Amino acid sequence: MNLAELNKVAEAMVAPGRGILAADESSGTIKKRFDAIGVESTADNRRDYREMLFRSSEGMSKCISGVILYDETIRQNAKDGTPLVKLIENSGTIPGIKVDKGTKPLPFCPGEVITEGLDGLRERLVEYRGLGAKFAKWRAVIDIGPGIPSYTAIMTNANALGRYAALCQEEGIVPIVEPEVLMDGDHDADRCYAITEWLLKTVFEQLYYQKVALEGMVLKPNMIVAGKKAKKRAGVEEVAEKTVRLLKACVPPAVPGIAFLSGGQSDEEATAHLDAMNRMGDLPWRLTFSYGRALQAAPQKAWSGKSENVAAAQRAFTHRAIMNSLATRGQWKQDLEKKAA
Ligand code: 13P
Repeated sequence: MNLAELNKVAEAMVAPGRGILAADESSGTIKKRFDAIGVESTADNRRDYREMLFRSSEGMSKCISGVILYDETIRQNAKDGTPLVKLIENSGTIPGIKVDKGTKPLPFCPGEVITEGLDGLRERLVEYRGLGAKFAKWRAVIDIGPGIPSYTAIMTNANALGRYAALCQEEGIVPIVEPEVLMDGDHDADRCYAITEWLLKTVFEQLYYQKVALEGMVLKPNMIVAGKKAKKRAGVEEVAEKTVRLLKACVPPAVPGIAFLSGGQSDEEATAHLDAMNRMGDLPWRLTFSYGRALQAAPQKAWSGKSENVAAAQRAFTHRAIMNSLATRGQWKQDLEKKAA
């Protein structure tokens, strides 16, 4: 393992003003997104859509440090034959790859899941590295509900994240370690805090036991928010204060950066929360975004599968990228959203 090289890539992924575009929706997930805009999910449509994003030159070159790809996408060429990986590299952005194979029910733990994909991962990482991936992603999913999560779900998912991260570093690939506590329930922000704390403490314990170098990874956690069905949602300042307090208690400063998932927050909420955290200052790591939905919802709607909408969709994507870039510096203002609208 060349730690200096891993650290260089990890630092670049969280460089000031930049964040990650999560465009690694599995075929099932992208179909759901396409259904919502009335587009058939064919390989060509998926290619056209993602090519449109990667050719949004202003947003990509100024605001996006890395793109997480799905297995199909890392092998696809643009319409003119250029590999999509090349398009990404040409905009000064780093290609990465989702390597987990999604979740399956966890035995004897009703309502809970375990992320799969460790078998054969060493060999797949070698191939992905050859295809240009410099970082990878693995997502563990923890749900909050009556009687869950269980210790079994926390421990097995943290163990798998450790196994994945160690294999990545062995192959010279920076692991994005993504332990996600879902915001689907009716729990309040304090319960989200307690469960996320339990999860992150367990994940960092596993990373230690499995010899993962913290300097060569990026953490992708949820923010501390109330569940979507909660009677009382937490305000922007409360989310920022609780998230930073928790991360300071759980994430060693050796980790170069933390790139949040958006997890079902609205576009503007995800930006406002990130901005409020960066305004607090005096943080031991960089705080940035690794958003899927919060970067893509607007361009998806604007595009709606029509080639005549490509320019408008690219403007919508670039706008969100710029807003989130400003948030990484604590310089976002709500007026900027209105002006664009
Ligand atoms: P969202 O920002 O839509 O949560 O997606 C991020 C991601 O990569 C989830 O694994």
